[in-house]
Amino acid sequence: MEASYQRLLKGNETFIAERLALDPDFFTRLSKQQKPEFLWVGCSDSRVPANEITNTDPGEIFVHRNIANVVVHTDLNFMSVLQYSVEVLKVKHIIVCGHYGCGGVLAAMSHSHLGLVNKWVRNIKEVYQKYVDELEAIADSDARAKRLVELNVIEQVHNLAKTSIVQKAWQERPLQIHGWVYGLDSGRIKDLECKIRRLEDLEPIFRYEF
Ligand code: CO
Repeated sequence: MEASYQRLLKGNETFIAERLALDPDFFTRLSKQQKPEFLWVGCSDSRVPANEITNTDPGEIFVHRNIANVVVHTDLNFMSVLQYSVEVLKVKHIIVCGHYGCGGVLAAMSHSHLGLVNKWVRNIKEVYQKYVDELEAIADSDARAKRLVELNVIEQVHNLAKTSIVQKAWQERPLQIHGWVYGLDSGRIKDLECKIRRLEDLEPIFRYEF
C-alpha cells in the first residue's frame, strides 16, 4: 500500500507539470529572486494557508505562521522574519490574519493545562485580560470566542507597530499593517480596518526616537 506521504510527492509532480504548462519560465524566473510585497503573519492551522486563500502564487507572500498568529517581541524567529522582510525585501504591507475557531484562542479561554504550549497561549490570555470587561459582557461563548479572535489580531497589529523595525521603516517609506480574520466556514476574509500607518497611530510610550 502507498504511504500517505507519497501522495504529496506525486502532488509535487502535478504542481510542476501544471505550472510549466501555464508558464514555461515560471521556475527559472522565481529561482532568480523573490520580491514579495506582503508579509503574512498567520496561524499554523492547516486550514488557513496564505497563498491558497488569497489566490496568490509562490513568490508573492513572505510567510510566518505560528499558533494563533502572535507577535512576540522576544521571539527570535519571528523578529528575524520581520527584520528581513521589512529591511531587505522591503514589503509594503504586513498582514496579521487570524481565523475564527482558532484552537489557540479557544485554549486561551479555557483552563486546560497543555504543557509547553501554555507558555505560548499565555500571550492570548493577556489579550483576554486586557479586554475582560468587553469579553465577559458577551453572554454567548461562541460570540465571545469570535471577539477574542478579532481582539487578538488587533493586539498583534499593535505589537508590530511597537517594534523598532516597523517604526524605522516608517521614517523612510509607507508601510501598512493590516488586521484580517478568516472564516473557516465561509472561506471569506474580513478586514478589521485596524490599519496602523504611522507613529502617531501608536500610544506615545511605545514610540522610539532614532
Ligand atoms: Co488558529
